[in-house]
Amino acid sequence: MVDIRLTLGEGHNQPVVLITGAARRVGAETARAFHLAGFRVIVHYRSSANDAEALVHSLNEQRSDSARALASRLEDEVSITEFAHEAIELYGQVDVLINNASSFYPTPFGEIDQAVFHELMHSNLQLPLLLTQALAPELKRQQGAIINLVDIHAVRPLANHPVYGAAKAGLLSLTRSSALDLAPDVRVNAIAPGAILLPEHEGKDYETELRSRIPLAKMGRPADIAQAALFLATAPYITGQLLSVDGGRTLKQ
Ligand SMILES: NC(=O)c1ccc[n+]([C@@H]2O[C@H](COP(=O)([O-])OP(=O)(O)OC[C@H]3O[C@@H](n4cnc5c(N)ncnc54)[C@H](OP(=O)(O)O)[C@@H]3O)[C@@H](O)[C@H]2O)c1
Repeated sequence: MVDIRLTLGEGHNQPVVLITGAARRVGAETARAFHLAGFRVIVHYRSSANDAEALVHSLNEQRSDSARALASRLEDEVSITEFAHEAIELYGQVDVLINNASSFYPTPFGEIDQAVFHELMHSNLQLPLLLTQALAPELKRQQGAIINLVDIHAVRPLANHPVYGAAKAGLLSLTRSSALDLAPDVRVNAIAPGAILLPEHEGKDYETELRSRIPLAKMGRPADIAQAALFLATAPYITGQLLSVDGGRTLKQ
């Protein structure tokens, strides 16, 4: 287990992590890993209320009042700022922000309009940026950390996903800018997952084809991302970095 008091500082007994889009999949596994390491967890959700409540219930059964669910559509600056204040009020502090919520779907050229551009840019770039801005004073006060979930396709394009790729590339740039601008008080890092969990509409054939392109010859697990996030959240001398968790996928053509 990571000793969070040593890595975040003595005042950080039971620090608080806020994870966006954490009701299911990678976000939920990250919530469980931080909870196991001693964090109190704020599970943000947009529409997955039942999953969020079930996750928080199971965490609170392990440690009383160690997890809270917080709903928001996070659609605009006002709702994002309100959400940040509500999150701080829940436990009186936020030490780590994990920008995990994301929309992901193809947008081939010829089918891109302002609505899809806005949705993909908003969830993958504008939302993390506005949440970083809204929480920066609190994270500075706590000498905290931010982790942005990027994608290996922020650097190497994924065919037919130009808007998503551009949004994640922007999030990587934001990671580096905010690491510089929020130093020395707040560390900001990014994780680039490879193939971890397929979109829910994709089948086994796609997975087999994908696996053939991964040197470690297997898909990653949400726990692999959670482990990287916990490492970056508690690594006192690392900021502005991108950690790929991709089974070696980016080594291949
Ligand atoms: N899965 C992978 O293999 C993979 C690969 C590369 C990168 N990543 C990145 O890793 C992170 C986690 O991946 P994942 O597959 O677990 O994510 P996901 O299931 O696709 O999405 C996580 C949550 O994001 C929330 N969300 C989606 N659009 C939103 C919006 N416009 N506003 C607010 N919330 C929104 C949803 O919450 P509700 O359900 O509550 O609506 C959703 O459950 C993402 O940032 C993703 O881009 C994942």
